[in-house]
This record gives sequence, C-alpha cells and structure tokens, in this order.
Amino acid sequence: MRYRRVKGTRDILPHEAEARRGLESQVHEQLSKAGFLPILTPTFEYYELYQRSTGESSDIVTKEMYRFQDMGGRDLALRPEGTPSVMRAVLENRLKIPIRLWYVMPMFRQDKPQKGRYREHTQVGVEVIGEAEPQADIELIKLGFDLFTLMGIKGMFLELNTIGCRECRSGYTEQLTGFLKEHHDELCADCKVRMNRNPLRVFDCKVASCQSILKQAPSQRDHLCSACIEHFDAVKAGLERFSIPYEENERLVRGLDYYSRTVIEFKSSTLGAQDTVCGGGRYDYLMGELGGPPTAAVGFAFGVERALLASRGEGIFEFNQSSIPLLLLPLGDEAKVYSLELLFKLREAGIGVQAEFRSGNLSKQLKRANTRNACKVLIIGENEIASGKFILRDMQTGDQQEVGFDELLNLFCSAKGQSC
Ligand code: HAM
Repeated sequence: MRYRRVKGTRDILPHEAEARRGLESQVHEQLSKAGFLPILTPTFEYYELYQRSTGESSDIVTKEMYRFQDMGGRDLALRPEGTPSVMRAVLENRLKIPIRLWYVMPMFRQDKPQKGRYREHTQVGVEVIGEAEPQADIELIKLGFDLFTLMGIKGMFLELNTIGCRECRSGYTEQLTGFLKEHHDELCADCKVRMNRNPLRVFDCKVASCQSILKQAPSQRDHLCSACIEHFDAVKAGLERFSIPYEENERLVRGLDYYSRTVIEFKSSTLGAQDTVCGGGRYDYLMGELGGPPTAAVGFAFGVERALLASRGEGIFEFNQSSIPLLLLPLGDEAKVYSLELLFKLREAGIGVQAEFRSGNLSKQLKRANTRNACKVLIIGENEIASGKFILRDMQTGDQQEVGFDELLNLFCSAKGQSC
C-alpha cells in the first residue's frame, strides 16, 4: 500500500465513531444541565500562547508541540490542549465572567505512541471561569465523578492534591531546589533542567532513580499558607459529604504549569501505563498571565479515547459491515430511475433504505445484495413498475411476497420490518 496514516494517528471506524457520538451527546446533556455552554476554538494558535500558559517547563511545550511556520512567517502550533485557547477566546471576545464553557476538540502532541497515547486525540474539557470558592471545585469533581460513573468507567479512582498558591509555593520551591541541588548528580538529564525551570515538575519524572530520590523530598504540606489549607480542607470535606472516594497523593503536581491549589486526576486501573482518564485543577493565575484581569478558574479534561477504552475495553470496536434493512434492486434503466423516486419516498417515510444502481440480471443483483449484507430486497422490474406491486424477498429465508407501496410502508414502519 502506498499511503499509510501518520504514526500515532488513528482511523476511527464507523462503530467507534458511533460510540463517540453517543458519548458526546450524553456529555452534552449532563453539562447543559450544569450551565455549561459549548465553545470551539481554532485548531492552531500562536505558539507563544502555549509557551506562556501550558508553560516552558512542561513536557508538552519542550518536547511535544507540533510547531510550524506558515507562509507568512508566523510562529504557530497545533493545539496540544484546550485550556489556553479557551481562556484566550474568553478574553479576546470579551465574554462576560463568570462563565462555564465546555468543548470537545482534537488535540495534538508528538509523544511516543502507545496504548491510550496518540499524537492526535480528542478531549472533552470543562472550564468554570470566575469562581474561586472551594464549592466550585467540589461541584466540578462531582460532575466528573457522575459522568464517569454514567459512562461505566471501570476501576475508577480519584487522586487529589493541592499545590498551593504563589505565595506559599515560593518558600517550598526554594526548599525543594535546595534538596535537588544536594542530589544533582543523581538526577536524570531532564530533571536537571526541570530543577531550574520549575522544580515542582520533577515529580512528573518517570525515571525510577529520580522517583526513589524524590521519596525523601521535602513535603509541600508543611509550606501551605492558611488560606490554601482552608481551601483544601473544604474541598476534601465536600467530597466526603457527597461520598466521592478519593486518595490524597502529595506527589500529584500535573504536567502543566498553570495550576494552583486543587489538582485532580481520575484514573482507571484497567488502562495500564496511560491510566489517567481525566486531569484538571484550579488555574487562578492563567487569565492574568494572558493579560486579562485576575480571574479564578477551575476545570478538567478527559480523553475520549481513554474513556472509551476504560468503559468498553479493547477490541470492542472491531468493524463488521452493518446490515442494510431494505435494499432496492432495479432491473434495467427504467427501473433505476423509478427506484430513485421510490428510494426518496421511502426515506421520507422514515425507512432506512438503500438502492443497488449497478446494472445486472436478477441473480447478479441478489449476489450483490448478499455481499452488502441486505436483510430484505425489493425487486423492481418493468412488470412491477406497471402493476405497482413489487417482490419483497427475505435474504435470510428466501421467502418472497408481493407488496404494494402502502403495504411496504406498513411493514417497514413497524420496528419488526426494520431489522433482519
Ligand atoms: P492533560 O492531563 O494534559 O490536561 O490531558 C487531559 C486528558 O487528555 C488526559 O487525562 C488523557 O485522558 C487525555 N490525553 C492527554 N494526552 C493524550 C494522548 N497523547 N493520547 C490520548 N489521550 C491523551 C489538559 O490537557 C488540561 N487542559 C486539562 C484541564 C482543563 N485543566 C483545567 N482545565
């Protein structure tokens, strides 16, 4: 074969595409009830937007961006995540805050492909902009919990942490940097860079030797200011009150630079290495970083591919050609023209019908109907057109009956006639 899809991309075949539509409409219904409005932003933006928001110390910006220059010399990037572009759109279009927005959009990251990790994936994201209270965090986490329960995510658990605010984080990063300096020579090359750019990022490192050093790292808990402790305690109390199970994970820092205070990840034990279905948290400084007024915000996003994997398992979307409830088989040119008219009339009446317009005698047409997986066929020749009576054949049993248009409608408008 001459052309193949690009490494890390996927063809989403009809069964999976249908399942995604179902998932999206379920999500749409739930989010509308919670006051979320849909938004869509461009697939590419100025590179600087992500550099500034997702952050210069994130793996996404340093290693995974599809960055390119267009013919006008603009420095652009394919969207790796939705939060920065949504915030830019809110600012640029002067949307009134507070506002709750949601999106389903493709994202692009040039990471190493593996099960559940692709170079193009789709995220459903929700952003609550302009709500600073811990109740907004609780509401959002409950929304995610209910959505994933509804979707039937298997082996789901929630990890929770707080990474403090600007004030209390600076004392902690100083102490952490001191600790990392002491272990400088034992750190991997990436962590040596992370240490200078954003020391918290070292907790994202997957290298075993770094992980074991980090076990002795100072805890951020000892540095939280009273406002951050109060916020975190309120979030935890809320989750307990609404019976949402969670595990506190002090090492959860998330891989993007804009977070503050609450951070969360919903995981599934069924997924293997890429087990995070959903990630999110507060990002109270991002709007200010982008040149807007200081605006608290909290949100999350989940990967549609991972959600489907975790709810339905692998192999479920193997594609089998689906059946055609009714196939018109015209015999001859006049019948072809007539069939087209009949096709439109039947469809108008709500019947799922197709026609086989290739020429051929009856036995050839019946063979084609078999290949196309037709349940029933309607044979249309010159005599049938003249009499207005057609032969309806059941492709499984071979039974035939003569039917007029009205009988056909009666047969197929009842659920019985629509399936094999
Ligand atoms: P993220 O954790 O980078 O967060 O991505 C969110 C989710 O997208 C992940 O939990 C995962 O399910 C899915 N995902 C990420 N990368 C891939 C990939 N390469 N292949 C397949 N699925 C993937 C964000 O993007 C933040 N914008 C979330 C957020 C919204 N925070 C606040 N509001």
